[in-house]
Amino acid sequence: MQIISTVAELRSALAPHRLAGRRIGFVPTMGFLHAGHVSLIEASVRACDVTVVSIFVNPTQFGPKEDLSKYPRDVARDEAACRNAGADIIFLPSVEEIYPPGFQTYVEPGSLAAPLCGAFRPGHFRGVATVVAKLFNMVQPHATYFGAKDFQQCAVVRQMIVDLNLPIEFHALQTVRESDGLAMSSRNAYLSVPDRARALSISQGLLAAQALHRQGERSSARLLDAARAHLDVDSLQYLELVDSVTLVAVGETLDGPAAMCIAAFIGPTRLIDNAMLQ
Ligand code: PAF
Repeated sequence: MQIISTVAELRSALAPHRLAGRRIGFVPTMGFLHAGHVSLIEASVRACDVTVVSIFVNPTQFGPKEDLSKYPRDVARDEAACRNAGADIIFLPSVEEIYPPGFQTYVEPGSLAAPLCGAFRPGHFRGVATVVAKLFNMVQPHATYFGAKDFQQCAVVRQMIVDLNLPIEFHALQTVRESDGLAMSSRNAYLSVPDRARALSISQGLLAAQALHRQGERSSARLLDAARAHLDVDSLQYLELVDSVTLVAVGETLDGPAAMCIAAFIGPTRLIDNAMLQ
């Protein structure tokens, strides 16, 4: 496994693979890898000849009051996880490599970036779309793998691929959960033991709504109430039912596939999760 930190080195490492017609898979991450990331890397390794994992904590997707400087980092552990999962290249650039002095061009996503997280994290998806577009241009993968936990991020990136005519297959893989149901997240590392126990109320709420939906309930209010009844969080940013494709809020009654999406703070830690109701 090669560890590469510049775009020039990355391009020369990938050139012979491209020339030989090998399929390149790409998993963009911000590091502090967990089983969810590993499942993405393994999916790429299964389907592609060469797998590139980027590890870059992207400053442009963090707001001024967010946890950029405190974002958990453990490169040695990440390297081991990538090696064990079968990755071929880790791309570990510096901030200056991605955003050299004078950088000024951004990718501005449209309406998919407006609701949910977009409403609470202004500029977040602009930062995500920009860095992902740049990484796509650096790696030029045939396929890319994202986690479905970041439901809105998947929608924004999938749309960007279409809108910018990027010849990249997009794969959103199922959220990987702890054995008790908590969605894997690098931010779970911030949770104290009691907060970890309360964080479980998020997936339990979503599961309750899913179960009710499976029994035939189609009232948005009753489905949202079922989830809300389980929540033991310090502040709820949003709990919403949205159309699973357009991300537009569902009206009084569900009449098609919807996603129940949540963002909540447990202590200082912001967690997101979602469940498909279809
Ligand atoms: O999901 C993430 O870890 C990040 O948003 C991504 C896609 C690596 C872009 O920085």
